[in-house]
Parts: sequence; C-alpha cells; structure tokens
Amino acid sequence: MCGIFAYLNYNVNRERRYILQVLFNGLRRLEYRGYDSAGISIDNSTSDPITCSCSSSSSSSQPLLNSLPLSPPPLVFRQEGNIESLVKSVYQEVATIDLNLEESFSIHAGIAHTRWATHGEPAPRNSHPQTSGAGNEFLVVHNGVVTNYEVLKETLVRHGFTFESETDTEVIPKLAKFVFDKANEGEGAQPVTFSQVVLEVMRHLEGAYALIFKSRHYPNELIACKRGSPLLLGVKELNEDINSGSAFHDAKFLSMDGHSKELFLSSDANAIVEHTKRVLVIEDGEVVHLKDGSVSILKFDNDKGRHSGAHSRPSSVQRALSVLEMEVEQINKGNYEHYMQKEIHEQPESLTTTMRGRLIRGGSCKAKTVLLGGLKDHLKTIRRSRRIVFVGCGTSYNAALAARPILEELSGVPVTMEIASDLVDRQGPIYREDTAVFVSQSGETADTLLAFEYALENGALCVGITNTVGSAIARHTHCGVHINAGAEIGVASTKAYTSQIVVMAMLALAIGGDAISSQARREAIIDGLFDLPNRVREVLKLDHEMKDLAKLLMAEQSLLVFGRGYNYATALEGALKVKEVALMHSEGMLAGEMKHGPLALVDENLPIIVIATRDTCFSKQQSVIQQLHARKGRLIVMCSKGDAASVSPGESCRVIEVPQVEDCLQPVVNIVPLQLLAYHLTVLKGYNVDQPRNLAKSVTTQ
Ligand code: F6R
Repeated sequence: MCGIFAYLNYNVNRERRYILQVLFNGLRRLEYRGYDSAGISIDNSTSDPITCSCSSSSSSSQPLLNSLPLSPPPLVFRQEGNIESLVKSVYQEVATIDLNLEESFSIHAGIAHTRWATHGEPAPRNSHPQTSGAGNEFLVVHNGVVTNYEVLKETLVRHGFTFESETDTEVIPKLAKFVFDKANEGEGAQPVTFSQVVLEVMRHLEGAYALIFKSRHYPNELIACKRGSPLLLGVKELNEDINSGSAFHDAKFLSMDGHSKELFLSSDANAIVEHTKRVLVIEDGEVVHLKDGSVSILKFDNDKGRHSGAHSRPSSVQRALSVLEMEVEQINKGNYEHYMQKEIHEQPESLTTTMRGRLIRGGSCKAKTVLLGGLKDHLKTIRRSRRIVFVGCGTSYNAALAARPILEELSGVPVTMEIASDLVDRQGPIYREDTAVFVSQSGETADTLLAFEYALENGALCVGITNTVGSAIARHTHCGVHINAGAEIGVASTKAYTSQIVVMAMLALAIGGDAISSQARREAIIDGLFDLPNRVREVLKLDHEMKDLAKLLMAEQSLLVFGRGYNYATALEGALKVKEVALMHSEGMLAGEMKHGPLALVDENLPIIVIATRDTCFSKQQSVIQQLHARKGRLIVMCSKGDAASVSPGESCRVIEVPQVEDCLQPVVNIVPLQLLAYHLTVLKGYNVDQPRNLAKSVTTQ
C-alpha cells in the first residue's frame, strides 16, 4: 500500500537538484498509494559525515568490514505528512547543512518512499528508508508486510542490533548488514556482491514485499526484489525510441558499452511513464541488480526462495522489455481541479475504451456479439461450471454485485458473491467445478489475492478482471479481461467502477452465447452498450444540480441510500463514495429490507436517497417512497427522465432525473450523480478529495 521509487542515472551528468526533483516527482505520482509520511535517500558528497535532523542517522565512526574504501554515508531524509511536507523539510535541511544542490553526479542512485502506515504510527522514525543503523550501511524502501519480522527482530537483537522504529521493515536493512558482516568475517573472506547479500536476506523473509536496497558498501548500485507486491523497472536510453521494446539477458542488458541511461524503479507505471515507456514488470522471486549501466536478473528456481531449501540456487533469467500503453496526459489533472473530478467526467471516454474492439454490431444479417479475447478459450468451461463466484472488495465487490443479475439471467449458471476477506476468514466452499471471478482495479489487493490463492488451491477456474496490466491478478489467473479504464489516481474509484460493470455485462453476453431465446435481449444490451457513453455524457450535465444538493446536505451527519435489484449495488456504492471522501456517515441499503429495521431511523431530518429508475422493481420502489413519505421521511428520489411526477410524493421531495437505459446498464448511469454528490460534498467541506483520510488506493496489506 506504500509507494516505492528509485532513480539511477548512469553516465549522464545530473545535478543534485535534478535528482531530488526526479525523486520528488516520482513520489508525487505514487502519493495516492499512501500519504502519511515519506522519505528519500541520496548520496552525500563530502567524506565528512553529515547528520540530518530529519533523518534517523547518517554518520558513523565504527569500523566497517568491507576492505574497499568506503563511500560517505548516504543522506536520509524522512518526514511525517504528505510529499510536499517532505519536499519542504528536505530543502530546509539541505540549506542548514549547506549541501550543494548544483553538484553534478555522472552516476547516482537515489531511493524514495511514500507510506501508508501499517506497523507504527506515522512518524519520521517509522518512515522509510529504514536503515541498518548508524552509518546507513544498508537502506531499504518497502511496500508490503514482512509477516515474520518479530522472529527476525528477536534474532537480530540477540546479535546486538538495536531497533528504533515499530516497523516490520527495519529488520530488512539490519538483516542485510548482518549477512554482509558475516560474509566479511575472518581473514581472507571473499567479497560478497550486493545481489548475494539481498538473495540471502530474501531467503529469510516471509510475507509480501517489493523492496529497493541502497548501500554505502555498493555505491551507485541498486537492488530491487519482490514477492507479492508490484514493482516495475523503467529503462531510458539516450535518444531512445520510446515505443520500442527490446530483449536483454542477464548482464548483457541493452548495451554494455557504457551507454548513458537512466533507470527507474517504481511500484507502478504512473511514476515511470513521463520518463520512458519501456518497462520490465519484475516477477515474484526475482532480484534485479542495477550496476555499471547494466541490469542483471537472478531468480530462485521455484520462485519461493526460503521455501526452496538451503541448496536452492538462483539462476539468471532472460526477460524482455515491454512498452507501456499509457500516455502522460492520463496521469495529469488537465483542466480539472482534482483527479476524482477529472475521472468522473472522463467516464464517457473510459467506457468507450473499455468496449473498444469488443462489441460487434454487424450488418442486417450479422448478429450482434461480444468478443473477449482473454476468455475465448475458457468460455465452454465457464458455461459448464457448477457456479460462478464473484470475489472482490469495496467498490470492486459492488461492481460485481451490479452485474450479478444479468450474469444469472444470461448464463443460466448460479452466481454467488464473496467479499474476499470473508471468503478467506470462513474458508468458504470453493470447488473444482466453480469459476471464481476476481474483480480488482489494482489487481494487487491483498485480501483478493489471498482469496485467489485459496480458490486456486481448491481447483477452481480463476478469472481476473483488473485495470492494471501486469498486476498479480492479471498475470496469475487462468484467464481474464482488462477493463482498460486508464489510470485512476483519485483514491475513490469512479471510472474503474463503471468500466468494471460494463466488462461484466460483456462477460454475461459472452457466456450467454447465442441462445435464440435471449437473442433480442442480448441485442438490446449491445445497442445499449454502444449508446452508454452518450447517456453518461447526458447524466454528467447534472453536475450543478448535484452541487446544489451537496450544499443542502453538507451539514448533515448522515445519509441513507435505498436501492434494489440492479441498483442495490448503486446504493452501496453511492453511500461508499460519500463515506470515504466526504467523511459523512452514509449507508446503502436494500430497499426490500427497509421494513425489517431501517424504517425506525426515518424522521423529518434524516436525508434519504431512493433509487427508483424504471425496471422490474419500479412499482416496489414507488411503494417504498410512499411508506417513507407517510413517516415524514426527507426524500430525494432518483428516477428515469419524465417520471418525476409519478415518483414524487409531495413538494418537499427532491427529484434527480436520469436518462433511462437498458436495466442491466442503469447502474452505470445512476452512480454518476452520486459520484458528483460525494465530490461536491467533499470540496464544500474542504476535505482532501483525492486522498481521503486514512485510505490508500491499493490495499496490499490484510
Ligand atoms: C473505494 C475503492 C475501494 C477498492 C477496494 C478494492 O473507492 O476504490 O473500495 O475498490 O479497496 O481495491 P481493488 O479494486 O484494487 O481490488
């Protein structure tokens, strides 16, 4: 859930000021992954140790065991708060210690981190880089959780190490120092390489992690490794054609002739794409060593490191670079004030991209159909499944819930829903005959990944639906569909949600096949999909109306949202948006359950949104409205265009009219006014829209 980033310039002169800017910009791009503290490490220039007050430590007089002349301790800056607090504190500190920002480095390796706290409160000592202790011999930035850190810590304490943070991460640099010192013990000890040290460290780590190591013993080198958490390498060569990929093998990386290059390591592509589009998605178990302008990759044979036994040897592997299919504009705000606002308004385009090339509407004699390339070889198996189980968390779960009825209708296969953490907690039944569909924008949510591993172990066919190419779910499921909604930076998901629903509607069409009995229905849905971006464009015109509604509601403590059928999910998702960004208590409820408890809450003060657009549940929602009105409920009704008179029980009721579309696509239209409402409530209350309190975009911890 944190963001890690590194920048290594090789044979290209870069001033310290520039290096700092690259590191800070990298962190800004990753800030949505965590924003409660941040830190960086860069090289010092003098041989005099320098102590920074915002760093844990940077000086040491202790003798070091490596026989090579030792470079000065790297500088470490760590700060509580967001990236801008770090930037401010670094420049203040740099001025205090009189560090020359114009000093030029032809080789330099810097690392950076933005944190979402898991172990230990947000504070400089708990921020990364975490260090091996005085002298900053080994420094580590980490995304993930080391589950066996307590055992490792006890062992290291027994060997004389002292700990200053409450983090799980601190054991890693200390373990690296321990391994390094051990290897250098005694007369005639052979020098160990940086990758040997890290490989040994990796053998001892359990849990999920992406790590970048920097060391005073190996100046100008970086090591990256991962298991579970995502990590990419970006490669920029001088005068590169950014669209070309290229294969490389071990040390013969691209060019060994000292060509100038810049290398970037990052938790995701957002922080790389502005520099280069050529990337390598680092695989689990790999150790990537950046040294002398080359990249070598070592991998444990069975991808499990410590589980592979003491004699398991890592071998070098050959990998090809791929080209990122994303543009820098996607990660900028453009003319919008916030990412969430931009992402809400770009839904007509994101939906178009999601459907591009997948819907076929032939001439008069050609049937309308859907093509999902990533699934075509598995459709038969899915149709024959005993059950389709949707698994996800939060918004992704809600999207699956919105698609459930159409899947049941068109596939004829029973569909059940599982919240990922609950499935794992219960060890709920998953069988070989099941198809388990994992829905995750990031493709790296820890709960969803654990549920996926569980389903895999139980022999189910595993299908992934993600927005992140190269993510764990995208790579490891048997088959799947990318939603292609484009980068979503706002922590509250908006455009990914609507694209997920559309993908699952297309999934229902694909599984449904060409049964004559449902042909008219399928064609109506396909027509509806083609028209959907226009209808979303239309509903976005409610922006001002929703701002007015937000003004009316901004002082309220609570908001209820009632939905049913296709729009039960809309009620849950609308309430989730209000809750997570506007920090206002809000509950989505199944309208059919109203009489069984929630009705007791109703009075003339509590605002209640009832979703009553036209579908088979319409008349039931009309009677819900009447029952709420009879109890003086303060009503806001969302209805189909032209229905205002038939849904409104009286003048006090506010009505939101939305375009009517095919029932299974209506959740895509209906969520938009609620997204806008959540957005405006947040702005009016003066809260941070894109980085809501305590949240982060990808939840890579349990
Ligand atoms: C809320 C939101 C979250 C995520 C959830 C799962 O706006 O985005 O509820 O949906 O944390 O994340 P993914 O979809 O990445 O698995």
